Amino acid sequence: MRVFLIGFMGSGKTHWGKQLAAQLTIPFFDLDEVITTLEKRTIPEIFAESGEESFRITEKKCLEELIENHSSMVLSCGGGTPCFFNNIDLMKKYGIVVWLNTNIEILLQRLLKEKLTRPLLKNMADAELKSYIIRKLNERRMYYEQSDVILDNENSISVNAFIQTILHA
Ligand code: S3P
Repeated sequence: MRVFLIGFMGSGKTHWGKQLAAQLTIPFFDLDEVITTLEKRTIPEIFAESGEESFRITEKKCLEELIENHSSMVLSCGGGTPCFFNNIDLMKKYGIVVWLNTNIEILLQRLLKEKLTRPLLKNMADAELKSYIIRKLNERRMYYEQSDVILDNENSISVNAFIQTILHA
């Protein structure tokens, strides 16, 4: 079983992914961490030194390798992962794709605190962040909506309810 967790930056993919993998007793990976280990550079360094296009190519390569090497895993993807190349099709073909559709106010509160670790946000004034989230989410929605499972209120459910929803899918 492969579970791909997708959603906007700050939607809690890593938090839920770790808990889900522990409960299912299957390996957990965070795609950004896999990229960082391979490149021996942080995500902001990759963006700054090589550009987003190069990051997206590495992201795809790491996604393909993880799928090839692990028939069971929970993978927490980056916010943009499903929106480039045919990544969403690949994930749907080889596993269950779960979208954490976290509400915009929660994303905003989290991202205001975590802006600096995210190259797409780090130069943005706090006042611009909300309109950026709304715009980017609207651009990405068409990819996120292709998920097999959509969790609209994941903050209010228990790990067990979260897992049951995924297993039913
Ligand atoms: C990105 C999200 C980040 C990381 C990179 C690009 C995006 O991952 O992959 O900064 O395009 O939304 P998180 O969603 O884990 O922050």
